Amino acid sequence: MADRSVHYTVMTLFPEMIEAGLHTSILGKAEENGILRIDTVNIRDYTENKHKRVDDYPYGGGAGMVMQAEPIWHTYEACFGEMLARGERPRLIYLSPQGRVFDQKMADELSKEDELVFLCGHYEGVDERVLEMIVTDTVSIGDYVLTGGELPAMVMIDAIARLIPGVLGNEASWAEDESFRGDLLEYPQYSRPEEFMGRKVPEVLLSGHHARIEEWRREQSVIRTAKMRPDLLEKAELSEKERNLAKKYLQ
Ligand SMILES: C[S@@+](CC[C@H](N)C(=O)[O-])C[C@H]1O[C@@H](n2cnc3c(N)ncnc32)[C@H](O)[C@@H]1O
Repeated sequence: MADRSVHYTVMTLFPEMIEAGLHTSILGKAEENGILRIDTVNIRDYTENKHKRVDDYPYGGGAGMVMQAEPIWHTYEACFGEMLARGERPRLIYLSPQGRVFDQKMADELSKEDELVFLCGHYEGVDERVLEMIVTDTVSIGDYVLTGGELPAMVMIDAIARLIPGVLGNEASWAEDESFRGDLLEYPQYSRPEEFMGRKVPEVLLSGHHARIEEWRREQSVIRTAKMRPDLLEKAELSEKERNLAKKYLQ
C-alpha cells in the first residue's frame, strides 16, 4: 500500500480526453499502485435543462459562447458537498490563458497537495460569478490560447504527479538533475550503442569515473543553458568558473 494517496478531480465537458491521456503509462501504473487517483466529472451531467445545455450567449454581445455558472456549481456541490458542509473547500485550479504561468516550481508546490481539482473551460470561457465562488488558483500553461482547458489540465497533472514519491520507479530520476532543478537544463543523455552512424558517445561517460562524469555533466548543463535558455542563468547558482564558462556560450 502506498504511504500517501493523492486524488485529482477534473471537471470537464470532455472527460474522454482526460481519460485517454492520463490513465496510461506511468500515471496509469501509479493509479494501479494506489498512489494516485484521477476522477473525471462531466459537467454536462449536472445540467438541469432537458437539452443538457451548458453554454449560452454572452451578456453584452460579442463572439462565441460562455460556459454557464449553474452546471459548474452543481458539479462542484455534488463532488465536494461534504467538504463544503464541514466549512472546508478544495484547492481548485481554473485553467485559463489569463492565469499565472505554470512552471516547475509551481509543479513542486502542487505535488505536496493530496487533493486538487482542475476546472477546464471551453468556448469563450466561464461565467465569472462561479469562478469567483470556487476558484483558488488561476493557471495558464503559456501565452497562447487553446480551445479548451483539457490539454492544460493534462499537462499540469503529468508534471505534478510525476513528482509524487513512488510515481516514477527510480526516485533519483526525479530528484536532483532534471531540467529546471537549480535553474539549469539537463545535460545531454546517451544510450547504446557506443557508436551510431559514426557519432561516438563522449569518452568520459564510458570511463566509469563518477566524479569526472559528474563534472562533465554539470559543465554540459551550464553550456546548454547558456545556449538555449540564457534567461535561466540569472537565477542559477554558479561558481565563478561556471559563470566564465557560460559567458563563452552566450549568443
Ligand atoms: C478559447 S479559451 C478562452 C479564452 C478567453 N476568451 C480569453 O481570451 O482569455 C477556452 C478555454 O481554454 C482554456 N485555455 C485556453 N488557453 C489556455 C492556456 N494557455 N492555459 C490554460 N488554459 C487555457 C481555458 O480553460 C479557457 O476557458
